[in-house]
Amino acid sequence: MDVGTRIRGALGRAAVRNHARHEGPPRRSREDVHAWARAHLPDRPLVVVSNREPYSHYRDGDRLRWVRNAGGLTVALDSVAQAIGGLWVAHGSGTADRASVDARDRVACPPDHPRYTLRRVWITPEEMARYYSGFANSALWPLCHIAYVRPRFRLDDWQMYDAINRRFAEAVLQELDGRPALVFVQDYHLATLPAYLKAARPDLQVAMFWHIPWPNPEVFRILPWRHELIEGLLATDLLGFHIRQHANNFLQTVGETLEARVDMEAMAVIRGNRRTWVRAFPISVDADEIAVMAQSPAAEQGERALRQRYGLEGMQVGLGIDRLDYTKGIPERLQALHRLFEKRPEWIGRFAYIQIGVPSRIELQEYRAVQRRSRYWIDRINQDFPRPGGPTAVFLEENMDFRELIPYYRMADLCAVTALHDGMNLVAKEYLAASPDLEGALVLSPFTGAARELERAWIASPYDREGLADAYHAALLEPEAARHERMAALRETVLRRNIYDWTLEVLDAAVSLGLRTPQAEEVAPPPVP
Ligand code: F6P
Repeated sequence: MDVGTRIRGALGRAAVRNHARHEGPPRRSREDVHAWARAHLPDRPLVVVSNREPYSHYRDGDRLRWVRNAGGLTVALDSVAQAIGGLWVAHGSGTADRASVDARDRVACPPDHPRYTLRRVWITPEEMARYYSGFANSALWPLCHIAYVRPRFRLDDWQMYDAINRRFAEAVLQELDGRPALVFVQDYHLATLPAYLKAARPDLQVAMFWHIPWPNPEVFRILPWRHELIEGLLATDLLGFHIRQHANNFLQTVGETLEARVDMEAMAVIRGNRRTWVRAFPISVDADEIAVMAQSPAAEQGERALRQRYGLEGMQVGLGIDRLDYTKGIPERLQALHRLFEKRPEWIGRFAYIQIGVPSRIELQEYRAVQRRSRYWIDRINQDFPRPGGPTAVFLEENMDFRELIPYYRMADLCAVTALHDGMNLVAKEYLAASPDLEGALVLSPFTGAARELERAWIASPYDREGLADAYHAALLEPEAARHERMAALRETVLRRNIYDWTLEVLDAAVSLGLRTPQAEEVAPPPVP
């Protein structure tokens, strides 16, 4: 591409972004995050810690190449790390990751225009089987999501989980080498890490975000290592959840598990001279950027190509994009689609559906079962309701780059987000952000965190096949004016709070609540009897 074309492209994108930013109230940008960090973290770095790394390296013949990992969490935090700089500590999972780090296991990221340092932590396949597939995804994941999959509790898994958490903590401590920092830990893989950090460095400020639901105390109390897990989380200064209900569940769980003062009014846990603030911060997406991508000539061309490939000219199109996970309700959604065609045959040949299923944790039998059941229902729909011109249901089992998803979002007249349980669900928000023409309908499970904000979506339960089939029908039939008004309201809800708002709310809460927290030496010891 010549320089002139590149400059024209950049100016065009900037104009659309500017226009998008002036729709509705002001919201934060990457520059605001940068300015906040300069003002509030002038002399200490931000350290992000997560299991999944933002960039992985692999070999392509003799060359080293890299990919930006597609998970919602890593993409969102990568923008933040780019804005603030600093350090990110994560598991080095790419096949050529070791070949691309320096002698201290570091690599500059993003690899093509470095803005922060990624420190990789090494975990062997045998360790991953226990730490990640075992305790994180066979014990904690099913325990926290109400999807009726029984958690498996194995001592070896728990011990490995704790040992790997310690390894992450050691990497953070080594990188900091005694310097002060704000450490921002992500998710259920790293629950005991904060305790190791604070034991070595009580002065470090530690915030943590739990991106999945937290169950009620009745459910949580079956975990044999619940005391240790909660001790780990209470080593944080601030613990965030997506919705208030999960924050409340956590506070109640603490009250029923340990000796602690749980202040439901202030939303804090106080134990001796330690205090953990608990807050709800609903995460979002970079909605302006997604809108710009959806309006680009490349997305328009991509949509045309997809319509041609699957014979979708003149058809209404439904879409689902999920990791192939049993919590996402994919077979349930397809069964309801089958029911729609059964009940309302007028949709045969007028409505087609594309499911993108990103292979995930496939080493676990429950995940292979989701894949099998999804394939089964896709085949059933195509066998029972064929149409001329192309398949009625398409199943794409691949991990696409985020940019590749945009033409699908743009094309979809309906997006189905039917999770059985979900902390937030960013697909719902991405779809709305990618629909600036207001042509679309969001069918949303009430069991997602997103449903708390997106009440005007077509709310339908994945457990109710008839109700879900009826919701598809009603959403597809809604008259244009009502459809546009509904989408405009939903879309503005997403545009009002983006990923930078979320980041600033969490980090600013860590700083401002830290100012209110009495220091250890100020807390009077209990009177001697
Ligand atoms: O939903 C919680 C979450 O941590 C997401 O943020 C993330 O995309 C996913 O689970 C983890 O996926 P993986 O196991 O592939 O890293």
